[in-house]
Amino acid sequence: MASNQQLQQRRDAAFARGLGNQLPVYVERARNAELWDVEGRRYIDFAGGIAVLNTGHLHPKVQAAVAKQLDAFSHTCLMITPYEVAVELAERLNRLAPGHTPKKAIFVTTGAEAVENCVKIARAHSGRQAVIAFGGGFHGRTYMAMALTGKVAPYKAGFGPFPAEVYHAPFPIAYHGVSVQDSLDALEHIFKYDVEPERVAAIIIEPVMGEGGFYIAPPEFLQALRKLCDRHGIVLVIDEIQTGFARTGRMFAVEHAGIEPDLMTMAKSLAGGFPLAAVVGKADIMDSPGPGGLGGTYAGSPIACAAALAVLDAIESERLCARAETLGTMMVNSLRDLQREMPAIGEVRGIGAMVAMELVKNRDPHSPDPDLTKALTRRAAEKGLVLLSCGLYGNVIRFLVPLTASDAIVREGLDIVAASLRELAATPALAAASA
Ligand SMILES: Cc1ncc(COP(=O)(O)O)c(C=O)c1O
Repeated sequence: MASNQQLQQRRDAAFARGLGNQLPVYVERARNAELWDVEGRRYIDFAGGIAVLNTGHLHPKVQAAVAKQLDAFSHTCLMITPYEVAVELAERLNRLAPGHTPKKAIFVTTGAEAVENCVKIARAHSGRQAVIAFGGGFHGRTYMAMALTGKVAPYKAGFGPFPAEVYHAPFPIAYHGVSVQDSLDALEHIFKYDVEPERVAAIIIEPVMGEGGFYIAPPEFLQALRKLCDRHGIVLVIDEIQTGFARTGRMFAVEHAGIEPDLMTMAKSLAGGFPLAAVVGKADIMDSPGPGGLGGTYAGSPIACAAALAVLDAIESERLCARAETLGTMMVNSLRDLQREMPAIGEVRGIGAMVAMELVKNRDPHSPDPDLTKALTRRAAEKGLVLLSCGLYGNVIRFLVPLTASDAIVREGLDIVAASLRELAATPALAAASA
């Protein structure tokens, strides 16, 4: 069998360089929170395929549901000859979406498509054009999703022009001195300087910024956004693509704020590793576009729908929301112990098992340390742990371990984080740069 190095050489020659690659680790098999590479090395997976594996690699329920569906049929196209697994999944997601207003759903294939469709639906519903998003937010790589994304390099640089009528407000981040009031004032400034609220179709926000750095939107901010949208007839879109399906200790992160979104995006952990995304929202808004206006060839693949039903069963029967709280507490406590010892850890934050640590120089929030962050992901990989970074300045480590992981595996992974950081702190070049 080819080695990691041989496969890396082939990869580099075969793929365009725009398709990033964090580790030269070629996976042979994976189960729950562990994976093994082609050379037989074992890794603990704290990345979960970027938030896709809340129920772990090949959860037995998901594997069985997919096998059963594969015996029946793999594709007919939901828009041509539909099937019960899709209807059942839509009914179930409509029931799970927060709030009492009747809901309807659509299925698409990727998170970016779900975001795009929210804008289409909000515009069709309101007859308005503008959309407001937040600085540092990430909504995907298609054109509208890119326009809404609030991070230029590497997502937008060189790709313009973008669709018009997109505005950004700052996300409230106490650690970086941006209060809830600052963000609300900025929204009022957009209404004063750029666009009247009567022309705004939607405001879109991640309840916990994912790619942007795992910053948690305070509940009072989401509640204020709900009021603002109600006052001006704006559609409130909550992007739950990274936060959904028990990651934060609730089925959806927005439940922590106790508000009802108008539209929600879902993807990633929805189908436990199979490509599926959804928009779920208030039925009257969802029904605004006419027949044929929404959809896609692979939208609502029966295999992915069967997987998603099994994911929902696993979340319920294994009480994964409660498990996320327990795991999150374990991770935050362990990382805070480490923070007391290491001035490089500026902040440890978490909601449920959506946990992050921000790496800075000498405890200064304004001195991000992306070099140390990169070195840590590399060193951890050498020790058998897959870690993911994020953040506007690339200086945040995000923890996305499967919620089905055992305590022992999570502790083993956290020990690797601690050992790697201690080694790097003792490395003269990095320690000097971090001082
Ligand atoms: C919050 C959020 N929205 C949208 C997306 C885009 O999803 P996809 O990569 O499936 O298009 C992502 C992906 O990371 C995300 O985290």
